[in-house]
Amino acid sequence: MFNNLSSLPAYLASRRSGKPRDMVAPGPDADQLDALLRLAMRTPDHGKLFPWRFVKIDDRKAFAALLEKAFLADNPDARPAQIEAAIAPAHMAPALVLLLYAPQPSAKIPLWEQQLSVGAVGMNLLHAAHVFNFVAGWITGWASYSPVVRDAICTGDEQIAGLFYIGSAGQPLEERPRPDPAQIVRNWP
Ligand SMILES: Cc1cc2nc3c(=O)[nH]c(=O)nc-3n(C[C@H](O)[C@H](O)[C@H](O)COP(=O)(O)O)c2cc1C
Repeated sequence: MFNNLSSLPAYLASRRSGKPRDMVAPGPDADQLDALLRLAMRTPDHGKLFPWRFVKIDDRKAFAALLEKAFLADNPDARPAQIEAAIAPAHMAPALVLLLYAPQPSAKIPLWEQQLSVGAVGMNLLHAAHVFNFVAGWITGWASYSPVVRDAICTGDEQIAGLFYIGSAGQPLEERPRPDPAQIVRNWP
């Protein structure tokens, strides 16, 4: 596990997502996964509303069956190869957790701020996985927007913010273009 605080900035600068389809064992065991989720929950959250939930997907076969049902609802004439591709996300990576946006009624805290908080939880989970020397990836894909999947997993107004895959890198991680701070950061006035 990462344990050199003096090199933390460099370590954070090295973080990048892994591709879920390339992830291999080892992934987090049950205790490590709970520790990762606990770290992810240490997230700014105006009003202490906790507008987020995690759903651990242990039974991958059941999740695959749900994805198949959801895919066929929208694509009743799908060919077997298309169904196979659609349910592939159910079998990727050693660990899979869904992050849900769970908006809470509040006279004071706008939903926008609650959405910001769930995004921060997602980022925090990626960082936590990295600190534990795992790779992680945040994917929404089609399943996050499927009403069939949502109805099976969410309650009330919850929405799927993403599927979080955690494991070890089976392939070298690819870097992606990072923004030029000169284009992103400005001074005011
Ligand atoms: C909300 C959200 C949803 C995403 N959904 C997908 C997706 O469905 N498919 C995909 O290839 N990448 C998706 N991405 C992007 C991946 O997470 C991407 O690999 C990541 O942004 C790489 O950045 P990083 O290396 O800094 O983590 C999504 C990102 C976010 C924030």
